[in-house]
Amino acid sequence: MQDQDGFLRDIWYFALPATALKAGAMQPKTLLGQPLLLGRAADGSVFALRDICPHRGIPLSHGRFDGREVECCYHGWRFAPDGQCTCIPALTADQDMDVTKIRVRRYPVAETGGGIWVYMPSDESREAAPATPPPELPDVTSDRSPGIVERMVFPCHIDHAVIGLMDPAHGPFVHKSWWWRSQASIHEKAKHFAPSDLGFAMVRHQPSSNSAAYKILGGTPTTEIRFRLPGLRIEDIEIGKHRVCGVTAVTPIDATTTEITHMIFWTIPLLSVLKPVLRPFARRFLGQDRDIVVRQQEGLKHNPSLMLINDSDTQAKWYFRLKKAYAAWRAEGGEFQNPVRETTLRWRS
Ligand code: FES
Ligand SMILES: [Fe+2]
Repeated sequence: MQDQDGFLRDIWYFALPATALKAGAMQPKTLLGQPLLLGRAADGSVFALRDICPHRGIPLSHGRFDGREVECCYHGWRFAPDGQCTCIPALTADQDMDVTKIRVRRYPVAETGGGIWVYMPSDESREAAPATPPPELPDVTSDRSPGIVERMVFPCHIDHAVIGLMDPAHGPFVHKSWWWRSQASIHEKAKHFAPSDLGFAMVRHQPSSNSAAYKILGGTPTTEIRFRLPGLRIEDIEIGKHRVCGVTAVTPIDATTTEITHMIFWTIPLLSVLKPVLRPFARRFLGQDRDIVVRQQEGLKHNPSLMLINDSDTQAKWYFRLKKAYAAWRAEGGEFQNPVRETTLRWRS
C-alpha cells in the first residue's frame, strides 16, 4: 500500500551504506517519518529497532550500546538487538516482573550490495515477515566495498528525487561541463527497454559516444541500467572482463526530505588510483541534481499541475504506474503485475 505521504509500504528501503555502521555502533535514522535505531552488534550482525523506549518514550539512540545490549539513558532499561528487554535496574530481587514480555518493535533488516536495507511494513504496529526479498545487486557489489560513496540530502519528496534521477532530458542542461556533455552535442537517442524485477531495464547497449567520462575506462563498454521500486537505480557496465557498477539508492526520510546515496563499485585497478580525482566529479554531479531540486521547490510550493511527456518522461510514468501496481498487489494479493511493456523510447539529449 501507499501511506498518506505517498510512500510505498511492505517494501525494502536503503537505509545506510554498510560501511557507515561499525561493529558496536548504533545511530538514529528517520525512514518514512518513523524514528529508527540502526545498530551493528559485536558479532557483525545488523539490527533495526523503533527508536523509542517502551518505558517513557525517550529515543533509545540517546543511550549506550556495548555491542550486545542497548541501554536507555533515562532509567537504564536494557534491550537485546532483537528488541527484547533484558534488564530493569529499578526492580528489587523479590519483585518478579517478567521483563522479557517487554519489547521494542523490530524491523526486518538485510545487508547486501554495500547497503543496509530496512523493510517498512504497512502496519507499523505489528512486526511483519517481508513480502519480498531485498533487492538483488550485481556480484561486483557483494565481494568488495564501494570505491566511492556519496550521500546527499535533497529537500523534496521521494517522487521528485526518483523522477529527477531517471530523467534523460535534463543531462545537457543540468550536468553541462567540459568533461561530460554540452548542449551542442544533443542528438537523438533510441533505447530499448524491458520489464525487470519490480521495475524496468534499459537493456544492455553501448553508451553514447559523447560521454567523455567513459573513455577513461578504456575499451568499449556496454551498459545495462535498471530501475527497481521503491527507488533504486543500478548501472552495470561491462568492459571486457571488468565491471563497474553504479548504485543509486533513494531513501525517503520524510515527506519533504530525501537522501540519495550513490555508490560506485569497480574491478579496474586504475580507477582505484584515480579515486581522488573521480570523487569530486561524483560529488559535483550529484550536487547539480540537488541544486535543481532546490530551485524546483520554489515553484512546487504553489502546488502547480505538472506534465509528463512522451518519450522523455515515459520512465517517470512507468515509475508511478509501478507504484500503483505494487500498492494494488499488497492490497489485493495475487501476483505482482508489472505494468511495463518491452518497447523502444526515443528522445533528444
Ligand atoms: S524511559 Fe527508557 S528506561 Fe525509562
Ligand atoms: Fe542528473
